[in-house]
Amino acid sequence: MSFQIAIDGPAGAGKSTIAKKVAKEKGYIYVDTGAMYRAMAYYLISCGISKDDEKAIGEKCEGAEITIRYENGEQVVLLNGQNVNGVIRTEEVGNMASCSSKHPRVRERLTMLQKELARTNDVVMDGRDIGTVVLPHADVKVYLTASAAVRAKRRYDELTAKGELCDIKKIEEDIVKRDEQDMNREIAPLRQAEDATLVDSSNMTIDEVVTAILALCR
Ligand code: DC
Repeated sequence: MSFQIAIDGPAGAGKSTIAKKVAKEKGYIYVDTGAMYRAMAYYLISCGISKDDEKAIGEKCEGAEITIRYENGEQVVLLNGQNVNGVIRTEEVGNMASCSSKHPRVRERLTMLQKELARTNDVVMDGRDIGTVVLPHADVKVYLTASAAVRAKRRYDELTAKGELCDIKKIEEDIVKRDEQDMNREIAPLRQAEDATLVDSSNMTIDEVVTAILALCR
């Protein structure tokens, strides 16, 4: 049986940074499910689909073949065979992903891929519905959160470090809007699983959070 660590939480809570470090410590693979939803969103944007056009999203998503592979321990997301890691981390793609991930067909396809990865590998998987839907029997479940202001500041620092011009107020507004969408959608909404441990990282360092999660794995 594989060992499964599920980490859920809102945008900008630090899930991917933390999950990557936990995976490295444990020697497990890290599965970033948000990147899969982002790859799908990127595909839909490239097809010229509007984020409010649910019918077109349902139809067009069938044309996206999303797979992942690992290069030097890093997850590479392939969209119809092309590496899209470099183009999916924008606010535009994130906002589209929050909308298109509501669609049942989009969720069905990506959930299947995620379950299969966790069946055959020891994983640290992060997302919104991992402990509740994708891996309901995960060995360790964490709900990682932080205040909206702290999350906006982290995203702002990340984007400015990459040389992108951005407005912190707008980022916080987007974060609050995405939380609302992710928590209130009909299928697989973001919520803390009953058996998940709540970790609020607002006043914690990355290493403190990693240590807390590793302690839960013992
Ligand atoms: O974690 P992220 O910001 O890369 O995720 C982008 C969007 O994808 C997020 O707003 C909601 C969606 N998502 C989801 O619905 N389910 C997941 N397991 C992961 C992400």
